[in-house]
This record gives sequence, C-alpha cells and structure tokens, in this order.
Amino acid sequence: MIKASAPAKLILFGEHAVVYGETAIATAVDKRAYATACELEGSKIIVNSKNIQEDIEASLIEDTTNPIVKAVQEALKFCKTKTGVGVEINSEIPVAVGLGSSASVVSATAMAVVSLFKENPDPLKIAEIALEAEKISHGNPSGVDTATTTLGGTIAFKKGTIEELKTEGLSLVIGNTGIRKSTKELVDKVRKSIEDPRMATSLFNISSLVKSAKTAIIQNNLDELGALMDKNHKFLRELGVSSPQLETLIKTAKKAGALGAKLTGAGGGGCIIALTQEPKKVIQALEKKGATAFQVHTNQEGVKIES
Ligand code: MEV
Repeated sequence: MIKASAPAKLILFGEHAVVYGETAIATAVDKRAYATACELEGSKIIVNSKNIQEDIEASLIEDTTNPIVKAVQEALKFCKTKTGVGVEINSEIPVAVGLGSSASVVSATAMAVVSLFKENPDPLKIAEIALEAEKISHGNPSGVDTATTTLGGTIAFKKGTIEELKTEGLSLVIGNTGIRKSTKELVDKVRKSIEDPRMATSLFNISSLVKSAKTAIIQNNLDELGALMDKNHKFLRELGVSSPQLETLIKTAKKAGALGAKLTGAGGGGCIIALTQEPKKVIQALEKKGATAFQVHTNQEGVKIES
C-alpha cells in the first residue's frame, strides 16, 4: 500500500491567458489531497472517496468519464502492468473553487499508483499522466494546474515550458465565495468573448503584466506585486470572469489593508487571493461578508510519497 499527496495550487498571475500560450505564474500552497493505492486481485480499478457516495468500479482499459479512473489507467499503462488497483482519496482542498482540487487529486493518484510498480517516478511523467486525467474534467487544460501540483514551489508556466522560480514564500489570504464553477464553462466563455477585439486586448494586457510580475516576485517586491494583482484582476473582470460576490470580497480585502487582491483560477465564483501583511484583519473582514477565509503559504512541496 502506498500513500502519496499533492498540494493545492493558486494561480498568482495569468489565468485564462495561459490557455492561449501566454505565461502564468502559479504556486503550491499548504492544503493537500492524499491518495492511497494498493494492488487488487483481478483486473479492475476501484476508487473510493468521501466525495462520492458509492465506490467506483472500472475496467483497466475501457473509456472512462472519471478523471481519477483515467489517472489510474494511464499510470498502469505507463508501468506496463495489468494488475488491478484500488485507490482511496482524502482531500483537504475545497472542490471547484479555483484551488486545483481536481489537479491535486489526479497528481496524488498517479504518484501513488506508479510508485506501486516503479521507484522514484519522475515528477514530469506524473504531471503528464495527471494532465491526461484533467482533460476529462476540463476539456483542453493548459497544464498549469497539474504542473504546479506535481512540481510544487512557484513556477512560470507556458505551454511546453516550465521555469521554477526562486522566490521567498508569500503569505496570502484566500476568500472563498463558496460558489462552485466549471473551469470548462469559463474557458469556453472567454473563448467566445475574445472574438471581440476589445476583449482580446485584455488577454494581451494580462500577458505583458505577467512579465513584470515575474520580476516583482523574484525580488519579493510586495507593493509592486499587490499593484499587479489589482491590475490583473481588472483585466479578468473585463474578460467577464468576475462576479458580484468576487467583487465584494476583493473590495473588502482591499479596505482591510490588502496590498492587492484578485480572483484566482477560472473565476465566475470560487476564490479570491489577497496579499497582506495583516492576515487576521483581512480574514475577519472577509468572514463578515459571509466568505470562508483562511491563510495559506506558497512554495510548498509538490507531489510526494507520504512516509
Ligand atoms: C484554471 O485553474 C486556469 C485556467 O487558466 C484554465 C487552464 O489554464 O487550463 C482558467
């Protein structure tokens, strides 16, 4: 039996633009998903998770609509084995609110299953398997979520290249609207909206802002990072992926002293992130508006085997 874990992810800058080949900056934070895998008699896959009422039983090869089953199938294919596998999932990461819960779960699953048959798997291979599984829920993901949940740390991600950034850890506050949203629907919405050239400008603006953000994060220039987060959010709002609830939380965080705040992930609901040196004050203010709020730390370890 092997237990693996993977962190939640936050996109600090560049969500949506990354789908069109631009760079995003993302980081791993201190909430994790856990997958425990064991070999089973018979050629079958069994998945058990608190989020599903009944165990899922699936074949090793038949097409599946379940990302966890897909991660197991791809992991077994990579290990060239027809052994049956059982997987149990436990996760601390809120689902469908932009924190990379699905990417984290499939990354931990891929790591646990591959590690049953191979020692010290390459995290890039795990990222590849996790991305195949993510395609089931997100259609055409850029790959930034699964790259962050497998490699950990803070990365500058552009389709085809991943740069690990040497950064000081940041302390951020998350404000969760509690409104779950489908990443696929929001990515489709942006695709339609950028047919209008004025909207396409917002994507271009996000991409040039990410270059400054990379410098600011490496230099740990918090004032500049905060200002860039505000600007990035403005462009995301123009793209149509904010919501009244997100706007309220962002205004609240700023009023409580945050240096900057933006939505994170696909938007439409989900979470904001706020950069602040007064986390307690920001958390209290967000909670007063009905949000679930908590502090996270960036630069966490990527996918790993739990001892
Ligand atoms: C979702 O976490 C990030 C998006 O940019 C989609 C993607 O990169 O695949 C909205």
